[in-house]
Amino acid sequence: MSRTSPLMNVMQLAVRKASRRLVRDFGEVENLQVSRKGPGDFVTAADVRTDQKLRESLAQSRPTFGFLTEEGEDIVGEDATRRWIIDPIDGTTNFMHGIPMFSISIALEEQGEVTAGLVYAPVSDEMFWAEKGQGAYLNDRRLRVSSRRNMGDAVIGTGIPHLGRADNPGYMAELSAISAECAGIRRMGSAALDLAYVAAGRFDGFWETGLSPWDIAAGLLLAREAGAMVSRTDGGSDPLYTGDVLAANEAIHGRMLRLMRQARREQ
Ligand code: IPD
Repeated sequence: MSRTSPLMNVMQLAVRKASRRLVRDFGEVENLQVSRKGPGDFVTAADVRTDQKLRESLAQSRPTFGFLTEEGEDIVGEDATRRWIIDPIDGTTNFMHGIPMFSISIALEEQGEVTAGLVYAPVSDEMFWAEKGQGAYLNDRRLRVSSRRNMGDAVIGTGIPHLGRADNPGYMAELSAISAECAGIRRMGSAALDLAYVAAGRFDGFWETGLSPWDIAAGLLLAREAGAMVSRTDGGSDPLYTGDVLAANEAIHGRMLRLMRQARREQ
């Protein structure tokens, strides 16, 4: 069983409060798929509204902390050593298309280090959360990365480059090398959830490049706290501000790194 700290309670309450309206908005977006105007402006409004609601709740409980969020202006708090890193909807393209695979991601960064994080999937009501040194949880259940050691048994998540992010010629070589050896590739469309799935042992590994800190800050902590190896895709440490992520259980991480290096060399 888990015992959530007062800080984690604040984070979870903020997310639950903001997600009630977000789930209603998602229902509306599903209806808008067939309208001529499409759901674009509506989704932008939902994104901004969720961001505001999260900020309001967090600022009420921790008024001195700053903010780095995908939607709003960055704010340096009175306490310049602490800030929230927020993505109000990670998986916006899914949300916009009525695909229920999206999440809210909140992390707390203290003195340059992420010490608490949560990724909440409102439609499935799954709360993934972790605090540094305290383990990772899904709702009340402690999480561990998978113990699969063979690539042939592994399911690997990824983010395939898309419009505006397609400037990564090495990616297709990596995808081809990894897909040829694993049991399956999944492209879910929410990097925060992808990392939570690594923590939960649902995915054996995940890699993507070009991500933003708000997409991954909480997910990286979740994966680490569940025992994952977390690196950049070149094996370097701390991917938070490079946005270049490889997270997997130890055996699969080593295998993926070798395959990716080889694929890039042979390009
Ligand atoms: C996106 C998701 C997606 C990833 C995209 C990100 P957003 O975040 O994390 O999985 O592949 O590159 O931009 O824009 O929906 O917050």
